[in-house]
Amino acid sequence: MTQDELKDAVAAAAIDEIRPWLDRNTILGVGTGSTANYFIDRLAELRDEFKGAVASSDATAARLEGHGIEIFELNTTGSVPFYIDGADEIDPQLHMIKGGGAALTREKIVAACADRFICIADASKRVETLGHFQLPVEVIPMARSYVARELVKLGADPVYRQGVVTDNGNQIIDCYDFAIADPVAMEARINAIVGVVTNGLFAARGADILLLGTETGVERSSK
Ligand code: 5RP
Repeated sequence: MTQDELKDAVAAAAIDEIRPWLDRNTILGVGTGSTANYFIDRLAELRDEFKGAVASSDATAARLEGHGIEIFELNTTGSVPFYIDGADEIDPQLHMIKGGGAALTREKIVAACADRFICIADASKRVETLGHFQLPVEVIPMARSYVARELVKLGADPVYRQGVVTDNGNQIIDCYDFAIADPVAMEARINAIVGVVTNGLFAARGADILLLGTETGVERSSK
């Protein structure tokens, strides 16, 4: 199977996972990225079985609206029963690195408000230890150089993601060559740097369910 076919397979599995729980009052949290896009396209077929969605990015909101799915503001919905999103890396404890698409802050906010986080990913995203993929950090623009110097002290090789402005008007630093032995501690440590909006470690609030697309089918694991 191609990587795109694996992404579509996990999107279909996520639909099967949530469908029994949907009713006309359900508002779903929806993530960002190519795997999330497969999920959104399949969600369109269920448009009349739920109320709408909270989007983790402007791009996701536009794609959902393009399918006629109503968008709601998180401040008015409160919690959502499910948040469905992809990942750049996921470890056996279901900790993740996210933010390859620069949507990490809104993703983390919606995830924080979700009863269950369903991660959908192809097998290339599974790792034993996080940090092979560069760790994104969203920063207030005037703090970028300061934050980069602090990240060097933590052992990272920070690189400014040129030309990218997040949906929140901020910038992204990617941390390369960063072995992350303790994702929960490192997530908190980076978030404590002044000027950091958030970082792409989803460890304190990891996934609850992983649907992983492999050559032999979709593997389901949960906490
Ligand atoms: C966007 C994300 C995505 O979930 C992550 O980058 C995975 O994307 P894709 O499904 O395209 O591989 O965190 O900010």
